Amino acid sequence: MTDFQQLIINRRSIRKFTEEKLTPDQVEKIMKAALLSPASKSANPWQFVLVEDKEMLEKLSLCKKGSSKLIAGCALAIVVLANPLTSDVWIEDTSIASIIMQLQAEDLGLGSCWVQVRERFTEGDTPSDEYVRELLDVPMQMQVLSIIAIGHKAQEKAPHDEDKLQWEKIHIGKFNIDQLTD
Ligand SMILES: Cc1cc2nc3c(=O)[nH]c(=O)nc-3n(C[C@H](O)[C@H](O)[C@H](O)COP(=O)(O)O)c2cc1C
Repeated sequence: MTDFQQLIINRRSIRKFTEEKLTPDQVEKIMKAALLSPASKSANPWQFVLVEDKEMLEKLSLCKKGSSKLIAGCALAIVVLANPLTSDVWIEDTSIASIIMQLQAEDLGLGSCWVQVRERFTEGDTPSDEYVRELLDVPMQMQVLSIIAIGHKAQEKAPHDEDKLQWEKIHIGKFNIDQLTD
């Protein structure tokens, strides 16, 4: 059993991946984690589209200005969708599923990065969610939250520095205005 504390200290956003593919077992474990995510009222509003095809990964990597290029080099992109009519808190539910998949990936020794799609735009100013929807035949009623890019790590990143934790964000008993820095 992994030390959870160590896992969350070690997890960093990985944006460079090797060419190695994920095994079916790794993919299954990651998707199992997603399906085990807690969701409000157990409504489970999420849907996930798994993309491994190189050409489609290239296209997805253009889904937003700047910080989505990394998708082109990942082994698996998981596009996280939800129907807002199924749950009014679909953003929370899909965010939880996204991070749980990232933690499961880390536990498998894989790297991952969250790419934000909701409220973002392509270089040509098309809403990123529209762009992704069209590429992947996603029905209109589905919103796109994120794309979780996963693969074998091709970069080393230092674990989080525990000395830099923002303990001032923790308020004991009542909100302490003197602790406010932003
Ligand atoms: C909601 C959310 C959206 C993010 N969007 C992007 C993104 O679009 N592209 C990207 O490269 N990283 C993205 N990230 C990764 C963050 O930049 C990263 O988590 C943050 O810098 C902290 O670094 P760490 O993950 O290594 O701890 C996102 C993370 C979160 C939680």
